[in-house]
Amino acid sequence: MRRRVLRNAVLAVVLVGALQAERARAETGYEAWLRYAPVEPAARQKYATLPASIVVLGDSAVLAAAQREVVHGVKGMLGRTLRTAQGPPQEKSIVLGTFASVEAVAPEFHPRNDSQDDGFWLTTGKIHGVDCFIIASPTESGVLYGAFALLSKIARNESIAALDEVQQPYAPIRWADQWDNLDGRIERGYGGRSIFFENGTVRADLSRVADYARLLASVGINGCAINNVNADPRLLEDSFLPQLVRIADVFRPWGVRMSLAVDLSSPKLIGGLDTFDPLDSRVGEWWRKKVDQIYQRIPDFGGFVVKADSEGQMGPSTYGRTPADAANVIARALKPHGGVVFYRAFVYNHHLDWREPKNDRAKAAYDNFHPLDGKFADNVIIQIKHGPIDFQAREPVSPLFGALEKTNEAIELQVTQEYTGQQRHLCFLPPMWKEVLDFDLHSGSDGTPVKELVSGKTFHRPVGGFVGVINVGMDANWLGHPLAMANLYGFGRLAWDSNLSPKTIAEEWTQLTFGNDPAAVRIIEDMQLASWRIYESYTGPLGAQTLTDILGSHYGPGVESSERNDWGQWHRADHEGIGMDRSVATGTGYAGQYRASVAKVFESVETTPDELLLFFHHVPYTLVLHSGNTVIQHIYDSHYEGAERAADYVRQWQSLKGHVDEERYAAVLARLEYQAGHAIVWRDAICNWFLRTSGIPDAKSRVGNYPGRIEAEAMQLQGYVPVDVVPWENASRGQAIECRRQQGCAASFRFAGSAGPYEIDVRYFDQNNGQSKFQISVSDHVVNEWVANDHLPATKIGGDSSTRRRITGLALHPGDEIRIEGMPDGEEHAPLDYVEVHRSEE
Ligand code: GCU
Repeated sequence: MRRRVLRNAVLAVVLVGALQAERARAETGYEAWLRYAPVEPAARQKYATLPASIVVLGDSAVLAAAQREVVHGVKGMLGRTLRTAQGPPQEKSIVLGTFASVEAVAPEFHPRNDSQDDGFWLTTGKIHGVDCFIIASPTESGVLYGAFALLSKIARNESIAALDEVQQPYAPIRWADQWDNLDGRIERGYGGRSIFFENGTVRADLSRVADYARLLASVGINGCAINNVNADPRLLEDSFLPQLVRIADVFRPWGVRMSLAVDLSSPKLIGGLDTFDPLDSRVGEWWRKKVDQIYQRIPDFGGFVVKADSEGQMGPSTYGRTPADAANVIARALKPHGGVVFYRAFVYNHHLDWREPKNDRAKAAYDNFHPLDGKFADNVIIQIKHGPIDFQAREPVSPLFGALEKTNEAIELQVTQEYTGQQRHLCFLPPMWKEVLDFDLHSGSDGTPVKELVSGKTFHRPVGGFVGVINVGMDANWLGHPLAMANLYGFGRLAWDSNLSPKTIAEEWTQLTFGNDPAAVRIIEDMQLASWRIYESYTGPLGAQTLTDILGSHYGPGVESSERNDWGQWHRADHEGIGMDRSVATGTGYAGQYRASVAKVFESVETTPDELLLFFHHVPYTLVLHSGNTVIQHIYDSHYEGAERAADYVRQWQSLKGHVDEERYAAVLARLEYQAGHAIVWRDAICNWFLRTSGIPDAKSRVGNYPGRIEAEAMQLQGYVPVDVVPWENASRGQAIECRRQQGCAASFRFAGSAGPYEIDVRYFDQNNGQSKFQISVSDHVVNEWVANDHLPATKIGGDSSTRRRITGLALHPGDEIRIEGMPDGEEHAPLDYVEVHRSEE
């Protein structure tokens, strides 16, 4: 008995020790989901049968990478160093090889015929009379994917006993696009500067590129276009090729094919021709030579991504030619080498007359590409954004997916959160993507969900699939927000298996990223799964799209920035109602681009789902939704609920203190606290704008009433001066105060509440063109000070820069003087919006 107690005690010490060791690892997030952290001793037993040796059948960079990865992973997770060898196993081994190479050494091995292309088979069997654990695939890349799959199972403590599992990728195209510029900036990148380029050239140190390729490969991504779709033609210059070769070399061991975005006018811009007319034979010849030259040095080059006739990029319309003419001339050059052209369907007129109610940007992709169905070469893939506008918080599925029967397609999903919080807000996108992928466009007699259309299954296309705009950067954690990497993981997993549920993806990612502590897994998974709808609820109600500053940052609130301009992202809100009428009967006719049974649903207000109502219809604010709420009250309620749920994230995350490592705990907490504050900026801006525009008060009297709030401009000011904020709704009561004195300014007021414990929120603005200092004191005691040095996308006061400082644990007494001192810096004038004083929950 005593011995058992002792043994249990020892076990407990070992367990606690292991858990602490796990938590103590300093983690920046750099390793993402490939941490290979030590498996808890209790679970280690499950892997006792794993062979002590690993052999690889064949000699290639990809197979070698697979072998190294397994050795590295097993060492990290199980603390065992596998013996490595090449050629047929001499002892019980893990065997890595293509079907052909396994068959060559073990004629009794019969490949499974349900595993094709990059699919793999994890199985056990005898080779040369010895028991082996076999990771096999028709391709070398497939073997690599199988190796990652095995390691993932161990990391998630799944059993690998009697393993006999085939996995098959959903589609051949599983690509990443990076929007990197040669100068090192990334268009719509929120995780630091480019890992590929700096100062006009490829970086000297490409170790991060190698690590990125490894991450991509670990989720089955097999191609990557490395530069901005608004392409710099210099990448195609002869002198640049050696630099591209370096990147391709680094990608190669991971089975990632390098690819480039190209400017269609390159033959003229850099090629010395006086034309880029795709039907001019000299242009065709130029592309042929250019492509041949590339393949000579990069034999596994993937192909080109083309953005043409779009947002200022030159295109075939210059010569009265079609996108098919343009795509095909390049495709012809690539064809002999096995390369493909991704021709983007994001082609629209950004000079649309907003006064014309029938104009509709949403119609553009279908109008431009549907008539060309069947005219594209078979190595052209039309790359279609998931919705008809531009990665909004909510959009319907693009009707073009269902309209191309004789053309290859790929869906373009955006991992970088351009319109969904820019990695400063938590927004796990697989639930959105999954809705899109599962949406049935009724394009054939049976069900035709988008995932089957894009993967080429529905119309038996030779190639097709998934493209993610990723935009990782030099930040240690790749995307800026430690929890945002779940989107990259989720993109890869859905491209690999579109039938996976968002819950499975969130759970896998959390286990791999934070370990198997059940509390951590449950809470992080819950937060991730709820986050898209929460983000949507305070930024883009009922399909009105993200009500953001569409002319600039695409980040903070900017309700009217989409209106009365040519860009066509209109929501048409006025004092009576809101929404774009896209019906066939009375509107732009966009609803008619869907097949009849889908079109019918969107055509009428009654049948359109609430979450897309304002995308398809212009309705009065008083219209009653399916939910029973009026449109206007829904707008108020959803924004309040969204902001409350964002505040809950902070509490949820705080419950994980001690369950995840300190470093990532603190990094995530800081982002969530910021988000909770910024969700209030959104809530107040949108609600006040609609209150003023509609004239209909909030039935719950919240909008316009802010208990405990003291406007900065109403305080006692020393040096500070009131300023109007534009647009007005992005600051409380439309005003803020700024300090334009070098020696600093102060704003103060007397606390009028009863004595007790309080917390104070200081709402201020943090621009990126200065680092103002703030200090707050209560009756002459300094209680907090800080520097406004966050990195927000703003050079002026407004919804992008508005942020807050929360000071807790204050004992206040009636009559206390609360005083904020601001010291301006650069172009930032220590701007303040308001202070809120709230009694602490006791
Ligand atoms: C969006 C984005 C641009 C990008 C474009 C594209 O409009 O804001 O930065 O270039 O999409 O996908 O081409």
